[in-house]
Amino acid sequence: MTDLARRIRGRTTREIAAAIESAARDGALKGGGRLPTVRGLAETLGVSPATVAAAYKELRRRGVLVARGRQGTRLSHVPRLPRGAHDELPTGARNLRDGNPDPALLPSMAKALRRIDATPHLYGGAASLPALQKLVAKDLLDEGVRVGGIAFVSGAMDGIERVLAEELHPGDCVAVEDPCFGNVHEVVLARGLVPLAVPIDDEGVLPDGVERALAQGARALIVTPRAQNPYGSAFTPARAKALRAILRTRPDVVVIEDDHASLITRAELAPIHVDSRRWAHVRSLSKGLNPDLRLAALTGDDETMRRVEARQRVGERWVSHVLQRIAVELLSDASVRRGLRKAADTYVERREALLAALATEGVRAFGRSGYNVWIPVESESATIAALLARGFAVAPGERFRMQSAPAVRATTATLAPRDAKLFARELAAATRAVSSAPSV
Ligand SMILES: Cc1ncc(COP(=O)(O)O)c(C=O)c1O
Repeated sequence: MTDLARRIRGRTTREIAAAIESAARDGALKGGGRLPTVRGLAETLGVSPATVAAAYKELRRRGVLVARGRQGTRLSHVPRLPRGAHDELPTGARNLRDGNPDPALLPSMAKALRRIDATPHLYGGAASLPALQKLVAKDLLDEGVRVGGIAFVSGAMDGIERVLAEELHPGDCVAVEDPCFGNVHEVVLARGLVPLAVPIDDEGVLPDGVERALAQGARALIVTPRAQNPYGSAFTPARAKALRAILRTRPDVVVIEDDHASLITRAELAPIHVDSRRWAHVRSLSKGLNPDLRLAALTGDDETMRRVEARQRVGERWVSHVLQRIAVELLSDASVRRGLRKAADTYVERREALLAALATEGVRAFGRSGYNVWIPVESESATIAALLARGFAVAPGERFRMQSAPAVRATTATLAPRDAKLFARELAAATRAVSSAPSV
């Protein structure tokens, strides 16, 4: 009996499912790890195969397990662990881990709060504020997005989840970047969808990876056109063209673009939805203006927008006009726009300073846009521990990866170029320490 099979105990569906989740939580079962067959586990536990099958089904429905045909039932690649005490930042450690923007580079909301119109917005009114739609539409059109109706949602992730909920059914496959923002994986899994990993490079998802995922049955493709988190990719016009050519042959596929960092990135947008029949483009306003705004603009083809807006109308109803009015004040303020451009320039400077410092130390790293840098390593946990001992906290690649190789993510949002040199030296030393440690 394997260690894993020994860990899974229980006589009822609920007990077996709980034991599998607990094995996943404490690492006995790793992301991608294979579970015993239904029949095998039923025999070990002395229960009927139907009881085990029901436990697996329940965990698949919740996205904890995925069934991959002849490859059997596996734990989802993303660790679905509640972020717990181990996530607390050790005292004194420099935080390059949490992916936040630099608070000093967010526009002040004080003036906007003083100026917003306080007239009550009543039930039955329009969900979207026309003044905000107009401002966003101009930005989108200027950057080559095909603008359909514009709805406002509670952040980019909320927009993505709403589109998935309307367009796909549990069990459907979705092509996602690998590595990818962990919340995207989590949302896909939580909706009972099956993520298919598409490798990326500096220019975004690889066309042959997209073709492979579509051939495997992906019904949607979620991409980050620039400031890819964690890798930093940004579509080049050539890559976007190659992807559009593939998508033209598959009009049934829903293309979802997550332009989460549009307001604070210098990389040009090269959209890939422009020839697609089913598409959505979501643009976070939170990331650049203030994460606490929880606001994003969503546009897409008429059918998608009709469905998303109809559903929103009966549930959430609308995103508070107080928030929409704040966004109008901020986006129509020339000094805020100047500040956003300055923030984008500062992020370029900080990211490039770290890439240069790492290159000087002979460390390979990636980060074509945005403020994250992706650093391949031999062992994530050993590198993280060695770096923590040297005073720096970075994020484990495990939170973002499916099949791609181990790495850590360093967020440079608040890392001044001078400190980048120090961090690069410490990282190089940590890497050497990890490589020379005797293996056990
Ligand atoms: C790729 C990506 N998408 C979406 C988001 C979240 O955006 P929002 O705050 O609008 O939900 C983030 C936040 O870091 C992100 O990295």
